[in-house]
Amino acid sequence: MLYYERMKFKIEELRKQKVVRILAIETSCDETSVAIVENGRNVLSNIISSQIDIHTRFGGVVPEVASRNHILSINPIIEQALKQANLTLKDIDAIAVTQGAGLVGALLVGVSTAKALAFSLDKPLIAVNHIKGHIAANFIEHKNLEPPFCCLIVSGGHTAIVKVDSYNSFKLIGSTQDDAIGEAFDKVARVVGLGYPGGPKIDKISKGVNANIEFLKHDTFENSYDVSYSGLKTAVINYVHSQQQAGNSLDVPQICASFQKQAVDMLVRKALRACKENGLSVLTLAGGVASNSYLREELQKCGKEFGVDVKFPSPILCTDNAAMIGALGYFNMLTEEPAELNISAKPSIPL
Ligand code: KG4
Ligand code: ZN
Repeated sequence: MLYYERMKFKIEELRKQKVVRILAIETSCDETSVAIVENGRNVLSNIISSQIDIHTRFGGVVPEVASRNHILSINPIIEQALKQANLTLKDIDAIAVTQGAGLVGALLVGVSTAKALAFSLDKPLIAVNHIKGHIAANFIEHKNLEPPFCCLIVSGGHTAIVKVDSYNSFKLIGSTQDDAIGEAFDKVARVVGLGYPGGPKIDKISKGVNANIEFLKHDTFENSYDVSYSGLKTAVINYVHSQQQAGNSLDVPQICASFQKQAVDMLVRKALRACKENGLSVLTLAGGVASNSYLREELQKCGKEFGVDVKFPSPILCTDNAAMIGALGYFNMLTEEPAELNISAKPSIPL
């Protein structure tokens, strides 16, 4: 019997198994990560090797450099993940991997490694959507969390409010009409000279600073669940240029705190309103920007006002990590066919 036919039978057997251990691989951007996750909720190991130091000198992620470093790191990190979980490859039931979205060369390292492992171990391969993986980080953090609930996705490539209908399917309620929120944080950080990685630097420098600059007077999508970050980003850039042309020194903390406030305030009430109007009492956060301290504080504060229970993953589960891929891999395994060995990386997957 061919590999794929065998895997279809194996996955049916796995669905009946009490304990399923998945080895998951994540290489979509500049983190090489391998995790071992039991039954989608219990993390046995989650090794994350960040390339931040390597890319800082370039002012951002250089795709080719990221791919080459994934190649160097992936095998030692697989070994480390197994060691930390006190397991060997024989104890693994399936291999999950981020298929997209992300940098194509970076994704290919993970996808090729996962295929090779799955084929050599004769175990099913499970393809995972990175953004849905970010949502699944909440299942690890909150052991009793079950759909349906609302999720605010705030990442480098996506900004969306979704209704999570089941463990691996959701409905879009609203989204950005242009730039993603993380992209705007990174761009503003670059313009004010903070460099890469922009989001965490803006978060840090804004702490305790009063946000006094109003970059935008109103929200273009005030009466809908959609947002726009292109206008806010351009307004900040224009402000910085006009200050520089007038020979004024830049008050970087003030600019950052004001940008952060407007970027976050635009989303908080929309997400909470979306919960109420869709009859959902829980709002979760997902994606890299979910680590933002002002966003977390505001959501928690306004959540009380709206009677919505706001939950977020711990910061380590908000960054790119393989545990979230292992979590979603498990839920995909329960409802979907295994992936074929001819799958390729998908640089962009629509939400
Ligand atoms: O979710 P992610 O890995 O991106 C995608 O999967 O698309 O998130 C990366 C983004 C970057 O734009 C980064 O600047 C931002 O998350 N970020 C933050 C913070 N930590 C990471 N933005 C604001 N505040 C933070 N603390
Ligand atoms: Zn991500």
